[in-house]
Amino acid sequence: MSSAHVQPVLELTGIDKQFAGNPVLRGVQLRLYPGEIHALMGQNGAGKSTLIKVLTGVLESSGGQMQLGGKTIRPQSPLEAQKLGISTVYQEVNLCPNLSVAENVFAGRYPRCGLAQGYRIDWAAVQRRARELLARIGLDIDVTRLLSTYPVAVQQLVAIARALGVESKVLILDEPTSSLDEDEVQKLFEVLRRLRGEGLAILFVSHFLNQVYAVSDRITVLRNGEWVGEWMVADLPPQALISAMLGREFAVHTATTAPQRMFSADALLLETKGLAQSGHLQPVDLHIHAGEVLGLAGLLGAGRTELARLLFGLEVADRGSLQINGDTVLLANPVDAVRHGIALCPEERKTDGIVAELSVRENIALALQARLGLRRFLSVPEQTALAEKFVALLGIKTASVETPIGLLSGGNQQKAVIARWLATDPRLLILDEPTRGIDVAAKQEIMDEILRLASDGMAVLFISSEMGEVVRVSDRIAVLRDRSKVGELPGGSSEENVYKLIAAGHV
Ligand SMILES: Nc1ncnc2c1ncn2[C@@H]1O[C@H](COP(=O)(O)OP(=O)(O)OP(=O)(O)O)[C@@H](O)[C@H]1O
Ligand SMILES: [Mg+2]
Repeated sequence: MSSAHVQPVLELTGIDKQFAGNPVLRGVQLRLYPGEIHALMGQNGAGKSTLIKVLTGVLESSGGQMQLGGKTIRPQSPLEAQKLGISTVYQEVNLCPNLSVAENVFAGRYPRCGLAQGYRIDWAAVQRRARELLARIGLDIDVTRLLSTYPVAVQQLVAIARALGVESKVLILDEPTSSLDEDEVQKLFEVLRRLRGEGLAILFVSHFLNQVYAVSDRITVLRNGEWVGEWMVADLPPQALISAMLGREFAVHTATTAPQRMFSADALLLETKGLAQSGHLQPVDLHIHAGEVLGLAGLLGAGRTELARLLFGLEVADRGSLQINGDTVLLANPVDAVRHGIALCPEERKTDGIVAELSVRENIALALQARLGLRRFLSVPEQTALAEKFVALLGIKTASVETPIGLLSGGNQQKAVIARWLATDPRLLILDEPTRGIDVAAKQEIMDEILRLASDGMAVLFISSEMGEVVRVSDRIAVLRDRSKVGELPGGSSEENVYKLIAAGHV
């Protein structure tokens, strides 16, 4: 749409934000127009989430102006921002999985009935209005069921329904797609397009460039807390976007780099025969050689995470066998797995990953300490040296290794989780969606580092919903569907062939 005659619904100018004197945002501006989808882009730690928090009253700005519909605003809380018409789903979504869908939609602001409407919660009204709000975004589900019984994508939509009020003018989504698969992303985008059609201004953050180009009209780029520019999507091709984010040229690998190496039988590191867990995984035969990158492909719910959890002792197999270097082993818990040189970098950093109150140093040293056991304690200077090495290697943006990890940006927390497992110097590294939330340049650098370690002999089991990435880095690809393995393909196979195998069980 043309912005020539239309005024922005929301306009920020000169926004500053400091934490303990350290500037994180400097003179940032942002304009959102009605009826547009606007992508807010920048590297990990650029200040995207901080800008959103300032704009929605979670954080107080250190300077600058905000105007909504031409009027100056200064919301002091997300609730106040919501009342003004700014609806937000934050990067760390805070829903309650153990409450019903309807309760999640209304938690804290239930419709009441009885004496002066203050008397008791009107559950019939809660359910009816929850259904209405969900219908607005095209979701028709049983609102009395627990939220946790629905897939993450549905939970994400429930979060949007919760955020959206009748008066919403602006919808802000901070990395809404980071735990969705491709079909689910499409469903979310349909909802966003529908809301755009109703005249909402939508701001969204994503590190997936293809998504940005698929859905947005306009792009604002931040770099290092500063505003770089605002473009119509058509005027900013991907390469130029990356340069704007990084402040330098950067070539993204697109061609297949998988060397399709051959591995001899004596390099066999791990082998499963009929490994299974009833209700979770059908018997799986799998083998991985030292130095090999084995990709694990499949849709959400195909059993990839279940297999990873079995190989890391988070779940215990009730059938089949597991051999490491020819010896049959039983992995009763992750400590066993770590002692056998297995590491798992999990997909859910908030629940399985970081310990928010501990420092970056402690978070990185955690798994190595577990591997060394009680007999050998890592001293603080040893931990510091270890943490500093990985902060430099993976480009983790933090004031120091003593900073509590919870203060790092989302993507930098995820890098620290990867560092924790690389620090154990594993023989087998299992990566379950390791680079979600990591910016495009850092993602490539991390994958290059992992491939370098593989060429030095580390085995890698790589799980990712980004099929292009799986095909690019894997020596071999095992395909799962409906919780069983349906076949294998050589690395460098076309994405199309992998999808065919997923869909039909044969190419
Ligand atoms: N409460 C806080 N105290 C100190 N520093 C903070 C705090 N919150 C954020 N920061 C710092 O502000 C900077 C910007 O972080 P922010 O979360 O806005 O980045 P982001 O652009 O959203 O990155 P990502 O893509 O990784 O989510 C980071 O360096 C972060 O460490
Ligand atoms: Mg963020």
